[in-house]
Amino acid sequence: MRATLRLGLLGFGTVGKALVRLVEAESPRLSRQLGVDLRFVAVASRALPRKPTDGLPPDARVTEDLLSVATASDVDVVVELLGGLDPAGPLVVAALGAGKGVVTANKALLAARGTELARIARDQGAALSFEAAVAGGIPILRAIRESFAGDRIDTVSGILNGTCNFVLTGMARTEGGYGGVLAEAQALGYAEADPAADVEGTDAACKLALLARLAFGQEVPLEAVRTEGITRLQPVDFVYAGMLGRTPRQLGIARRLADGRLLLSVRTHLVSNDSMLASVEGPFNAVQVSTARGGDFVFSGRGAGGEPTATAVLADIVEIARRDGGSGVPPFGTEAPAPFAPAGPADSVAPFYLRFVVRDRPGILAELASVLARHDVNVDAVFQAPWSGKSALPFVVTLEPVDEERLGRALVELAALPFHVEAPLALPMTP
Ligand SMILES: NC(=O)c1ccc[n+]([C@@H]2O[C@H](COP(=O)([O-])OP(=O)(O)OC[C@H]3O[C@@H](n4cnc5c(N)ncnc54)[C@H](OP(=O)(O)O)[C@@H]3O)[C@@H](O)[C@H]2O)c1
Repeated sequence: MRATLRLGLLGFGTVGKALVRLVEAESPRLSRQLGVDLRFVAVASRALPRKPTDGLPPDARVTEDLLSVATASDVDVVVELLGGLDPAGPLVVAALGAGKGVVTANKALLAARGTELARIARDQGAALSFEAAVAGGIPILRAIRESFAGDRIDTVSGILNGTCNFVLTGMARTEGGYGGVLAEAQALGYAEADPAADVEGTDAACKLALLARLAFGQEVPLEAVRTEGITRLQPVDFVYAGMLGRTPRQLGIARRLADGRLLLSVRTHLVSNDSMLASVEGPFNAVQVSTARGGDFVFSGRGAGGEPTATAVLADIVEIARRDGGSGVPPFGTEAPAPFAPAGPADSVAPFYLRFVVRDRPGILAELASVLARHDVNVDAVFQAPWSGKSALPFVVTLEPVDEERLGRALVELAALPFHVEAPLALPMTP
C-alpha cells in the first residue's frame, strides 16, 4: 500500500536543514522501495530565510508561527527540531492533542517529560518517536525497544556525548589543555558556542535517563543520574593515565542490580587502552548493551551532526508512514513505568584514581595514607611523574576496589587537609 505523509517541520537549524536535504535526496528511493511518499507542507522557525536557494522545501508554507504548523489540518506528522523544553514541550503537546504523529530529536524534553508525552500519544492513538534523541544516527533506541525484547538487559553504557569525546581524545593526542581543545572542537562545529550542557554532562545524562527508561522500564528522573563534567581534567591526568595503560573517557552507565535497583552515572572513567571504548575517537559515540543471555553488543557510529541525526529522524518518519500514521510500538515499551528504584553509592564499587595537586612539603603522603587507612580504603600504588612546576606538585594514588560511600567519606576528610592547591580528583578505573 502506498502511504503519503504530509510533514510539518518546527525548527530550521542544523538538523532541520539536513532533514530537508535528506528527504529530497532519498524521496525517489523511499517511494520506489518502500512505497512511502513524503512531502513537507509547512516549516516554522524564527528568522527563516526567504529565498528558495536557502534550502527550504520548495512547496512548503513558511512561517514564524510555530503553533499554526503544530496543529495544521494538512499536517500528518510534526517534526520537532527546535530543542529545549519551551516552546518545544507545549508544541509537542498541542500536536499530539490534535492527533498528529510527532517525531523529535529533543533529549532534554523527553528526559523531562517523556512519560507524560507518551501517555498523551497513547490516549490520542498518535505516534511519538525519538530515535535521534540518543546517539544521533546510531539506531540504539529501536534496538533496545524491539531487538532486545527477548532478552533481559543488565547494563547499558557508553560514550554518549561526541563533544566530550572529541575534547578528551584531543587532549590525549595533543597533550593540550582543556580550553585549547574545546576551542578547536568549537571551530570544527563539534561543540556549541555555549558548551555547558555537553562538558558538564547534562546532555549525556538526558540520554542515559532515556536509555535506562527504555531498557529497564522504570521512571528515571534526570536528577537520579550522578553527573560530573570533564572540566576538571588536566594534561597531567593524561600523563598519569598513560602510565597506567589507560585513557580518560566520559561514560554514561545504567546498570540494573540483581534486586532491580538502578545505578546511573555520567562521569569520566579511566578505561584500559586495549578496551573497545578507548578505540572510539573524536566525535564518535558507542553504546554497549549487556544482556543476560546474548552477552555484550556494541553499537558505534556518528552520535551527532546534522546529517547523521537527520537519518534517524527520517527513519522514524518512514516507520510512521509504513504503519499508516498509527502509533505502533509504544515509545517506552510499557506505558506505565515501574517506580524508580535507585541504588546508592555503597552499591558502586571500582578501583579508583585519585589525583592530588599540593603545595610541596614533607609528610603529605603519610597524612593522606592515614586518612585512607582510617576509612579502610586500600592504596594500590603511588605515582609521581617528573614535574617542572615550582609551586604545585601533582601526584596520583590508585586505590584497590572500594565502594563509593566509603570513598566519599574519606574524600571529604582528605579535601579538608591544608596543603591542597585544588580539590582532589577521583576517577573510577574501568576494564
Ligand atoms: N545537532 C546535532 O548534532 C543533534 C544531535 C542529536 C540531537 N539533536 C537535537 O536536535 C534538535 C535540534 O538541534 P539543532 O542542532 O538542529 O539545533 P539548532 O541548530 O539550534 O536549530 C534549532 C532551530 O530551531 C529554531 N528555534 C529554536 N527555538 C526557537 C523558538 N523559540 N522559536 C522559533 N524558532 C526557534 C532555531 O532558530 P535560531 O537559529 O534563530 O535560534 C533553529 O532554526 C535539538 O533537540 C537537539 O538536541 C541535535
